[in-house]
Amino acid sequence: MSDASKYIILLGAPGAGKGTQAEILRERFGLAHVSSGDLFRENVAKQTPLGLLAKTYMDKGELVPDDVTIKMVMERIARDDCARGVIFDGFPRTEAQARALDAALAQANKKIGAVIYIRVPDAVLVERLSARWSCPTCGAVYNQLTSPPRVAGKCDKDGSALTQRDDDKPATVRRRLEVYHQQTAPLIAYYQRAGLLREVNGEQPIEQVTLALTHITQAL
Ligand code: AP5
Ligand code: MG
Ligand code: ZN
Repeated sequence: MSDASKYIILLGAPGAGKGTQAEILRERFGLAHVSSGDLFRENVAKQTPLGLLAKTYMDKGELVPDDVTIKMVMERIARDDCARGVIFDGFPRTEAQARALDAALAQANKKIGAVIYIRVPDAVLVERLSARWSCPTCGAVYNQLTSPPRVAGKCDKDGSALTQRDDDKPATVRRRLEVYHQQTAPLIAYYQRAGLLREVNGEQPIEQVTLALTHITQAL
């Protein structure tokens, strides 16, 4: 795979498995994992001005405004570890964000290699998110129903007590899904027009989804 095209976008609704798969691909291919949601949550935890602003949107399940989101992600991808390629998780989420990313990559003589749409029906997503637990120390993600930790409530990697995300409450999940359908799903057509879209059935077990993503990544 050529260096210029190792920029891969994971597109999909909340709970589709973007974060789970991005972590696996990061380890397997040595690419950077850039998650706009994780960057916002780091800022929320540190109570930075960006974090305080982002929290007011995240708590309602709304998108953080494009200008601050784009600035944050552009600063992140300018860092050294992104030079060999990036798995984008949760970004872009609007057409303005997609255009900003296209422009930034073109300027750096890079391009998007593939946009992988991980397709999962809404009913499955709601169930998954209510059963999600994550590690506040290392970010590992578990699921009470489908991929529980070895010891209940504790991270397999470092033993930290697992927590649930504030925005995984049922009402907020419903709003996040609406926002996804209104503002982010149009990107499926955007990237289809650009000839970059690949679709993977995200209802399969995690390992099967990883296999499909690995084949696409290897072929770039
Ligand atoms: P963000 O953090 O990006 O959340 P999201 O898109 O809603 O996606 P999730 O992280 O909930 O789902 P995921 O696809 O990563 O699934 P996961 O792998 O965890 O965004 C949060 C908020 O930040 C937004 O609402 C917004 O306010 C703001 N924000 C972020 N980016 C923004 C942007 N670009 N612009 C504006 N605002 C932005 O998996 C979910 C669960 O399912 C886990 O328990 C997992 O174990 C399980 N699971 C995964 N795969 C499978 C499988 N194949 N089978 C069974 N279970 C599975
Ligand atoms: Mg995620
Ligand atoms: Zn951990």
